Amino acid sequence: ASYDAGEHASFMRKEILEQPAAAERVLRGRLDERFGTAHLGGLNMDARESRAIRRVKILGCGSAYYVGQMGAGMIEELARIPANAEAASEFRYRNPVIEPDTLYVAVSQSGETIDTLLAVQEIRRKGGRVVGLVNVVGSAIAREVDGGIYLHAGPEVAVASTKALTTMYLAFALLAIQLGRVRDLSISEGRRLVTALQALPEQIQTILDTEEELAAVAHRLAQARSLFFVGRVRGYPVAREGAQKFKEISYRHAEAYQTSELKHGPLALIDPEVPTVALVPHDELTDRNLAALHEIAARRGPLVVITHPDVDLGDLAQHPEVTRIEVPRSERELDPILLTIPLQLLAYHAALTLDLDVDKPRNLAKSVTVE
Ligand code: AGP
Repeated sequence: ASYDAGEHASFMRKEILEQPAAAERVLRGRLDERFGTAHLGGLNMDARESRAIRRVKILGCGSAYYVGQMGAGMIEELARIPANAEAASEFRYRNPVIEPDTLYVAVSQSGETIDTLLAVQEIRRKGGRVVGLVNVVGSAIAREVDGGIYLHAGPEVAVASTKALTTMYLAFALLAIQLGRVRDLSISEGRRLVTALQALPEQIQTILDTEEELAAVAHRLAQARSLFFVGRVRGYPVAREGAQKFKEISYRHAEAYQTSELKHGPLALIDPEVPTVALVPHDELTDRNLAALHEIAARRGPLVVITHPDVDLGDLAQHPEVTRIEVPRSERELDPILLTIPLQLLAYHAALTLDLDVDKPRNLAKSVTVE
């Protein structure tokens, strides 16, 4: 084969390790330091058309849908345009209202996912404008859309997507900055984000360098029958993606929740057998996040806290059941991408410990091309 896993144990690990390079490729030639903006010529939209957008609707399936949720958050935060993501597999069945001033964004690694493709066709049939965030050049979705951003992640073979998701996230960051800069995002704010984006490939590398530590944690998590992944606001889609990756390849039940919702039900399940992986970035919600983690620790639930170096865990740090994992800080709007990386390695090493086929999990296909 012209493309194989080479010296790596698996395609998934190879693709995880390729992320700094993939991140550089998706950003290359698209950042403008001088004006603190992004240039996405492939969208085929001038400043006036970009300004006329009143809403953004993102469509994708599985992990692409979760990254779409992260993207919607960034677009609302940076461009102040109402934005949300929806599972493309559900969209057309509820006879959606298609609006002329909504920008529809289809997101797909393969560009062949049938549910996403059919959603695109339905929107276009009703006169909506759709742009694509697609990895595979010339794929069905790439051919169907009005414009788009190629992800340049390179070929992805493992069923569990990693590097393609990272490039999707970065493409959403570029889109959010471009939409923001024709609105109220200032030049200095734009520059702050451009500088942070440029630093991301190296920051991703520093997380990959902690693989051994993450493997030891994964070893313990793999023993659990069921786990929670929790986060709030920017961290919640990260938790959803973390749970998805974990269940896909380790076949363990992993459920994502908003940390704030634990006390409204799922806290009843917490005991020493049910670990929680919690995302606690340094942001406006750190204290509230930590308060919720105390509730878990009080029930002797094992905790893996993914956090920033300057977050003080207080009493929790003394708790025997608490493991701390650090990722470098970016700008707060861009933190989700770095929080996602350790979750990939936790899932990968859990599956490895359980002696499972990480590249080809049972029951799943790399892209779902039939309904
Ligand atoms: C990712 O790990 C999954 N295997 C899956 O959810 C995937 O993201 C989804 O099927 C969408 O695929 P696409 O990006 O090729 O459209």
